[in-house]
Amino acid sequence: MEKVQQLNIGLIGAGVVGRGVVRNLARNTDLIAERLGVRLNLKWVCDKDKSRLKNLPVPASVLVRDAKVVLDDPNVPVIVELLGGTSFARTVLLDALNRGKVVVTANKALLAHHGEEIFAAAARNSANVFYEASVCGGIPIIKALREGFVANRFPLIYGIVNGTCNYILSRMTAEGKDFDEVLAEAQKLGYAEADPSLDVDGGDSAHKATILASLAHGFWTGLENTYVEGIRHVTKYDIEIASELGYAVKLLAIIKTADASDSAPIEVRVHPTLIPRDHVLASVGGAFNGVVVRGDVVGETMFYGRGAGADATSSAVIADLADAALNLKCGSVQRVPAFVAHRLNARVRTIDDVESRYYLRLTVEDWPGVIAKVAKVLGDADISIASVLQREAPESKPGHPPSDHVPLIFMLHVAKDRAVRDAVAEIDRLPVVKDKTIIIRVENFD
Ligand SMILES: NC(=O)c1ccc[n+]([C@@H]2O[C@H](COP(=O)([O-])OP(=O)(O)OC[C@H]3O[C@@H](n4cnc5c(N)ncnc54)[C@H](OP(=O)(O)O)[C@@H]3O)[C@@H](O)[C@H]2O)c1
Repeated sequence: MEKVQQLNIGLIGAGVVGRGVVRNLARNTDLIAERLGVRLNLKWVCDKDKSRLKNLPVPASVLVRDAKVVLDDPNVPVIVELLGGTSFARTVLLDALNRGKVVVTANKALLAHHGEEIFAAAARNSANVFYEASVCGGIPIIKALREGFVANRFPLIYGIVNGTCNYILSRMTAEGKDFDEVLAEAQKLGYAEADPSLDVDGGDSAHKATILASLAHGFWTGLENTYVEGIRHVTKYDIEIASELGYAVKLLAIIKTADASDSAPIEVRVHPTLIPRDHVLASVGGAFNGVVVRGDVVGETMFYGRGAGADATSSAVIADLADAALNLKCGSVQRVPAFVAHRLNARVRTIDDVESRYYLRLTVEDWPGVIAKVAKVLGDADISIASVLQREAPESKPGHPPSDHVPLIFMLHVAKDRAVRDAVAEIDRLPVVKDKTIIIRVENFD
């Protein structure tokens, strides 16, 4: 058997994921060394919080609190950044790359905000950045897109990329509970942060959508061009009606091209979406992630698994370390480059021009002629109605409209987003309309 080499690694940030990496590297260290022919050696484990460095299966001599010690070590060619945030983490990444070190990161916020700069630094320094854990935790979606599906264009990628939102929507659906109630329980159980905004307002999904879109389409799509809407406005009432109509409500990241040509604009959007209840993503429940990738050569593929958590995420970090180790062993650090920009003229379509189907829930006075008034506004805007459902006034309770007003549901055929939003703004000005209309996009991904 060939001699096993050793790769020295400096890990910075021993929090949830960092400690998972340390534990799981120790757990399967011999197996990984046998598979790679390289032993992954944690030369440094760094965290500014002393308590994070306790009870780790590494010698005390590797534990440090100052990241500079790790970065300065010339015998550490690979840095693992697991700090989170976009400030110090950015400094660490750029410092490491400028020293020609390879970086492994799980930091989706950092890549979504500063990816272009970071990938340029990697290329300039003949270094590399691996970031499998930044999207969908343990699911190897980055590797699939850039290696397994290298033969493909990607007309459509869509999926559930935030476990917290999926957990909340799944429980609202299963238990008929309100958003606030489920969020509070999710926080108690550790499925949601004390400040849940990055998850529930869609920001975290937007980070991941931006990374996937850029990788899949060969240009930096930019976080500012990713449309984002969270789940705070989704009520149990809408989930109940959607279910009656044969749909489930999921927060999806959707990356779509209008046609197969290289000049077609890309849509990158995150929003609650009604999908058919028999769609495979409708059965992705709890904190799980699920992503469907449609390639023009491979066809439809689906990925399912845990999108977060110490073990699932560290599985992806260790896979990146394995790639880095094999590249260094073969003397080809950039065998798979961090990012290849090959479509410099491509652009992202604004949400105004995106086409979709729509679910509208109006709250109206229960008078004859109301449906006709609303239909006229939609008709004047050239928006076609697929069906109308008028429900009796529900009992007045939290999450339901007041009982003297009735809900009126319109399912629309495909229309432009801007046209629908303008029409709804006009509808909401009608005196018979008593509350802000709820708009949820509908997709069946045929
Ligand atoms: N948690 C997940 O399931 C998950 C899943 C996928 C991706 N990620 C990504 O993985 C990264 C790490 O997440 P995490 O959940 O492990 O975060 P975390 O638990 O907050 O761990 C980060 C650690 O870094 C330490 N740190 C901060 N600044 C430092 C500095 N200047 N020097 C040394 N240590 C410093 C923090 O200490 P203090 O606490 O004292 O600040 C903390 O112990 C993030 O980018 C996150 O988005 C996480």
